[in-house]
Amino acid sequence: MSYQIAIDGPAGAGKSTIAKEIAKKLGFIYVDTGAMYRAMALYLLRKGIPADDPVKISAASREADITIAYKDGIQQVLLDKENVTAFLRTEEVGNMASVSSANPDVRKKLVELQQELASRENVVMDGRDIGTCVLPKADVKIYLTASTACRAKRRYDELTAKGEACDLKVIEADIEKRDHQDMTREHSPLRQAEDAVLLDSSNLTIQEVTEKILALVKIRKDNSWK
Ligand code: DC
Repeated sequence: MSYQIAIDGPAGAGKSTIAKEIAKKLGFIYVDTGAMYRAMALYLLRKGIPADDPVKISAASREADITIAYKDGIQQVLLDKENVTAFLRTEEVGNMASVSSANPDVRKKLVELQQELASRENVVMDGRDIGTCVLPKADVKIYLTASTACRAKRRYDELTAKGEACDLKVIEADIEKRDHQDMTREHSPLRQAEDAVLLDSSNLTIQEVTEKILALVKIRKDNSWK
């Protein structure tokens, strides 16, 4: 058995930054499941499949070949053998991913891939349904959140630093819409697992959140650690 750390939460709560940091500190692999849903969304966008056509999305999801590789310890997502990692973090792909990830066929395919990765290696995996569906027996489960205003401001700062023009109000509205979609969908909606520890990062630094999670891991370290 491998050791599993599950981190779920809404967009912009800091999951990937924290998960990467923890994985580095513990020597685990970091699995970014959002990137897999984004790769599927990219496939759908490239094929011109509309977000409101579940039959076509189901059929396309069976055709798309999505695999994961690691380069210098960093996750790379391959779509039909092409490394598409650099194309995944756009608003267009994120919005499509939020819609297409509600499709049960998309979820089934990607959850199998995620479970297979976690069965082989010690992992820190982040997403929306890791503690509730993908790794229900994870050793440590975290539900990481932050206020909407705080998450929007972080996203705004991130885009502004990259030199991209953006509007804080538009970003906030987008985050609210995505939260609503992710939390109210029928299949594997975003919610805190009963045995997950709630962490609100609104007033905490990356280092403080990381330390809190590492302290929990220390307490729960057991024989599954290899
Ligand atoms: O974390 P992210 O923004 O990269 O995720 C993109 C979308 O993928 C998000 O809106 C919801 C979906 N997603 C999901 O449904 N389940 C996951 N485990 C991870 C992401």
